[in-house]
Amino acid sequence: MSKFPKPREVYDYRPIIHFTPPSNWINDPNGMVYLNGKYHLFYQHFPLAPHWGPMHWGHAVSEDLLHWKHLPIALYPDELGCIFSGSCVYDEENLSGLGTEEKPPLLAIFTHHSMDGSHTEQQGLAYSTDYEHFEKYYGNPIIPNPGQKDFRDPKVFWNPVRRCYSLVLAAGDHVEFYASHNLKDWEKTGEFKAGEHGLKGVCECPDCFPLPVAGTQCVPAENPVSASAAAASPVKEKWVLVISMILPREEIGKNNDVYDRMSHITQYYIGEFDGNTFRDTEMADTPLLLDYGTDNYAAVTFQNLDEKVMIGWADNWDYANFAPSDTSGFRGKMTLARKMHLVPTKEGYRVAFSFEGLDELRTHAFPLLPGENRLRSQCFGLKVNVAGPGSIVLKNQRGEMLAIRVTASEIIVDRTNAGQDDFSESYALPAYGRTHAPRPATAKDSLHCKARPEAVSEMEIILDKCILEVLADDGLLPITASVYPSKPYEKICIAGDLKAEYYCVH
Ligand code: FRU
Repeated sequence: MSKFPKPREVYDYRPIIHFTPPSNWINDPNGMVYLNGKYHLFYQHFPLAPHWGPMHWGHAVSEDLLHWKHLPIALYPDELGCIFSGSCVYDEENLSGLGTEEKPPLLAIFTHHSMDGSHTEQQGLAYSTDYEHFEKYYGNPIIPNPGQKDFRDPKVFWNPVRRCYSLVLAAGDHVEFYASHNLKDWEKTGEFKAGEHGLKGVCECPDCFPLPVAGTQCVPAENPVSASAAAASPVKEKWVLVISMILPREEIGKNNDVYDRMSHITQYYIGEFDGNTFRDTEMADTPLLLDYGTDNYAAVTFQNLDEKVMIGWADNWDYANFAPSDTSGFRGKMTLARKMHLVPTKEGYRVAFSFEGLDELRTHAFPLLPGENRLRSQCFGLKVNVAGPGSIVLKNQRGEMLAIRVTASEIIVDRTNAGQDDFSESYALPAYGRTHAPRPATAKDSLHCKARPEAVSEMEIILDKCILEVLADDGLLPITASVYPSKPYEKICIAGDLKAEYYCVH
């Protein structure tokens, strides 16, 4: 008998605007690239069962980041192993010679994880000129294993210093940088060790990219910086290095806080990239977390897009294999796409996020009354103006409730009594059930450069069946959590100094 339970058939948990597979298992987003007006999302997929197994790359496309069309599986396991995480690069100048000038190739650079028991990891290449069907490169592996146990998840990016492509991959307790002029032959250029000012452990799914400092560039419409102000402050950027981490067993729960309560967590560093390696220049006192919630891991950004837009796997290794599903047996979901902004705060530069693709839906928002309101949908958004402490609580007939509380120092998401929790011991732990995210001293320079009293901030909340996403304090405090109410929530209660507007998201 399989150790993984069959999905329960209690309630349809399949989200509407969050990506889910046609059926069975998914984890990390892979190879995200914007091409000819379409967002391509590849993903870690086991198409044969609703639990992790030999990995394939699933594939879907979208024009709006909310509605996805499933395409055939892009990469199948082969004699070098199954297909672990990696990235795509649009080789527009056909540097690889694997396409033609008329049909530049899309290259997938991924990890082959051997299935012979040795677990050897090395990097492979596949190419496509119709952006749907891929051929594996005859010269694989393109980066053989150098004797390193964990050696995976290559993310390709443009290297403006050397004027070539670079990639960053996870190698045990550090990440390594490689450079190439033809995307096939790679030389190692440097290393960055995680943990000096962050979390220690085994690295996974790194990403590295430049991000302009908000307010130093003029973003029309959204950012009303005057032309003269924009001219006076030229575009400045910093490099961001994102690393998903597996914490060492002995570190978990040591301080019983948001930094060590789970085995898997994603952090980021802010600094410089000299063409060979990354240097952390912010050196924050506490690790910078990409998300304070339990359910956002292995997040990476799109390639070939001017702005930095990120999607993560909205689940948690500690319980994802056991999570409730629906009759179709899908298991796993992605976060919504989030645009990244680099914001100067009193504590230094920080990354802030805003949801991508929701502008049109937000125009239909209407105010909710303080107190109790009826909830007619399980897929909705809230725009919340936070002027002081307060709470937003969702309730159903069974007495289950999901709470988002604002205090002067924390944003708390409490799912300890939000629905089903008996499918996994980890999920049911109070430390997982209640997220206490420390609020930034002040979210001074708001994303949209609005003049506002410092204590006021904006929060946006999305609930889409079994996934809750909260972007609090002008996007500086993301909290993502899976929730499994056994009946739909029917009431939404607003208390305290919060003004909420509601909009439907489907
Ligand atoms: C992260 C990860 C990656 C690996 C993939 C395997 O969630 O462990 O490091 O490539 O998942 O599915």
